[in-house]
Amino acid sequence: MNSKGRIVIKLGGGLITNKNLSKTINKEAIKNVCNTIKQLNDEGYVLIIVHGAGSYGHILSKKMDIANGINNEIQEQQINAVQQIRSNMIELNNEVIKSLKKIGLVAIGHPPSKWAKGIGKDFTGNLDIFETINNDKIPICFGDVVDRDDSNKFGILSGDDLMYRISMEIPNVNFTIFLLGDVDGVLTNPPNNVNAKLIKNYSKNDITNTSHSSDIDVTGGIDLKLLRAVEISKKIENVWFLNGNRSERIMQLIHTGTTIGTKILP
Ligand code: IPE
Repeated sequence: MNSKGRIVIKLGGGLITNKNLSKTINKEAIKNVCNTIKQLNDEGYVLIIVHGAGSYGHILSKKMDIANGINNEIQEQQINAVQQIRSNMIELNNEVIKSLKKIGLVAIGHPPSKWAKGIGKDFTGNLDIFETINNDKIPICFGDVVDRDDSNKFGILSGDDLMYRISMEIPNVNFTIFLLGDVDGVLTNPPNNVNAKLIKNYSKNDITNTSHSSDIDVTGGIDLKLLRAVEISKKIENVWFLNGNRSERIMQLIHTGTTIGTKILP
């Protein structure tokens, strides 16, 4: 492990897909963020990538009530939907892997449905796969439908819970970064509100009128991200929410320790 340490970075589903339209990918955003990842690689950081689902997961999960586990009345449709969502997620993951490959980076996808069980931050599964010593094979995982040992049978493990466990358990993480789609960080109000202002430093007691769109989002939206991020910040000094479309800010943060975005404080 080199002295620069690790960066754990999440490409939010709202960044890499169009959240409202089923299975629509944002190729340009993926390409840009992969270029930034390449720069971080070239500067000697060891990377761990997590991504969200956006419209590759939330829409069908919502329709088939996957987050609440098995429902006998629609069991068959649910089981088909679980297969469909898992395969959608692998498809989205492959798009990110392909984009990294184009610029010379090798990433290995680790679908949580294959190695993790249970939902929330106490999910089980061996995290050793993320403890790489260089970027020969960058580990990449994502929010997914996972099996549960209880009567629910299945549920949704969010990429934010993966971010939490990876940041807390893998050694030498220097930065944990959540990249968002169309906002500069955490805002005081939903982005479409004229009063919405960027919160530069967010700590647990700050109140935000967040924009959790529960009509689309099945995992907890910005509220879950904030909750996990505050927990991570107890261990990791640099926990940030950034605009994923502004790659220069990611680099500025890494180089100077600050940028336009939201720094999370314990
Ligand atoms: C959700 O993962 C996974 C599924 C709906 C299958 P995330 O919670 O990490 O996804 P985003 O970032 O909100 O899209």
